[in-house]
Amino acid sequence: MQFSLLAGLLVTLTSLPSGLGVSVDEHPPKITPQVFIISMFTPESQIWHNIPDFNLLSQNITLPGLSPLFPYIHCTADQKICQLTTGEGEINAAVSTSALVLSPLFNLSKTYFLIAGIAGINPEIGTISSVTFARFAVQVALQYEIDAREIPRNMSTGYIPQGSVAPGQYPGSVYGTEVFEVNDALRKIAARFARNATLADSDVARDYRSRYISSPGEEEEEEEEGIYGAATKPPSVIECDTATSDVYFSGKLLGDAFSNTTKVLTENQGVYCTTQQEDNATLEALLRGASSGGLVDFGRIIIMRTASDFDRPYPGQSAMDNLLYAEQGAFEPAVENLYRAGIQVVMGILRGWEGGFEGGVRAGNYLGDDLETLGGKNERRGQEKLGKRGVRAGEKRGRR
Ligand SMILES: *[C@@H]1O[C@H](CO)[C@@H](O)[C@H](O)[C@H]1NC(C)=O
Ligand SMILES: *[C@@H]1O[C@H](CO)[C@@H](O)[C@H](O)[C@H]1NC(C)=O
Ligand SMILES: *[C@@H]1O[C@H](CO)[C@@H](O)[C@H](O)[C@H]1NC(C)=O
Ligand SMILES: *[C@@H]1O[C@H](CO)[C@@H](O)[C@H](O)[C@H]1NC(C)=O
Ligand SMILES: *[C@@H]1O[C@H](CO)[C@@H](O)[C@H](O)[C@H]1NC(C)=O
Ligand SMILES: *[C@@H]1O[C@H](CO)[C@@H](O)[C@H](O)[C@H]1NC(C)=O
Repeated sequence: MQFSLLAGLLVTLTSLPSGLGVSVDEHPPKITPQVFIISMFTPESQIWHNIPDFNLLSQNITLPGLSPLFPYIHCTADQKICQLTTGEGEINAAVSTSALVLSPLFNLSKTYFLIAGIAGINPEIGTISSVTFARFAVQVALQYEIDAREIPRNMSTGYIPQGSVAPGQYPGSVYGTEVFEVNDALRKIAARFARNATLADSDVARDYRSRYISSPGEEEEEEEEGIYGAATKPPSVIECDTATSDVYFSGKLLGDAFSNTTKVLTENQGVYCTTQQEDNATLEALLRGASSGGLVDFGRIIIMRTASDFDRPYPGQSAMDNLLYAEQGAFEPAVENLYRAGIQVVMGILRGWEGGFEGGVRAGNYLGDDLETLGGKNERRGQEKLGKRGVRAGEKRGRR
């Protein structure tokens, strides 16, 4: 079944019995999903199709403003679960999510959004095939950049925050999309649900991981596992933060630089562990929905990223080899784990709907962007905070 706004309108207009004085005001009820899965491209989208749990292909709905590559919203027949595929990169993610948020066909005021995509992973924090849940999303490439060959000797990276004069400084110019913070209490619940999943892995990935053991003599000052100890462990569910960048980077130096950026922008609270190309854009679109009369509840967003590849090489490998040639064996398990971990989250929310999720999960932390668009006080900004509105996040929201 396919709906479109225009077709709906035509039906309403042409099906009016003439001359009977019937009210024209017959809006179809809005689609009010409990969970919206946000995928970015075909493999992430298709892993949710043809599953035993529910059928997202029961309803295909067209909306103005979706990606030409992914023109349908998919929903189950009961409309409790729907899926948007945004298209890849920051621009597609922002525009497609905006089209959904502003659509009059949907009522998203109590919908949980599960952003579910694959990502690169920082081997200092986790390993390939793992499932991560983020509190902070940081737009790390929204900075000044000079080419590596022209970096002054006293700078550790070619990236300088906008409006500042050296790496490591807080940006002097803030666009408002640099950092988003989502509901930490909800994140912990989602991670607990996901830990019930048996994660997929592959022999190639298992073998590849072992290369992250530091060679003897290296990294003498680190504990015996070396700085990449986390990379050598089996995949697991971890809570750590995500970096958004249209530029798909590889290497220890850029990884370290963006890890530093994450710390600077989150006042040392964020731990950079995954890198992807969309989340801040998706979050900005959801934030604007939240600030437009509560079209969405920003306290109901879960950022789940599974690790398909390492963001930097193992000791002795080149950054180019990591980026272009190494067969890491984790793409398929990472896609599969979107479903295996994600289904636990989706079903957990549906099962607990009346028992609490309908009313919302109370956030103990600040919610939103760096501009305090949703109200609340962003204590991370300290002296530099821009907004003056004083309502603590969570107080205006549903509770659980
Ligand atoms: C929805 O679209 C998918 C292809 O994306 C198709 O397989 C499915 O049959 C469609 N569902 C309906 C109800 O038309
Ligand atoms: C949206 O749905 C909620 C219940 O989930 C309801 O309270 C609200 O009135 C609905 N809003 C609109 C505009 O339909
Ligand atoms: C690097 O050196 C230049 C020239 O001495 C100085 O102006 C600049 O502040 C230094 N930058 C950093 C990041 O230390
Ligand atoms: C991206 O979103 C995260 C939270 O989801 C936020 O912490 C971060 O500041 C955002 N970064 C940018 C550059 O917008
Ligand atoms: C754990 O997973 C099983 C099988 O997928 C499911 O039946 C069960 O309800 C889940 N338990 C929890 C606590 O989510
Ligand atoms: C990251 O920050 C640390 C501590 O300030 C610094 O020593 C290191 O050089 C930075 N790394 C990069 C790549 O900027």
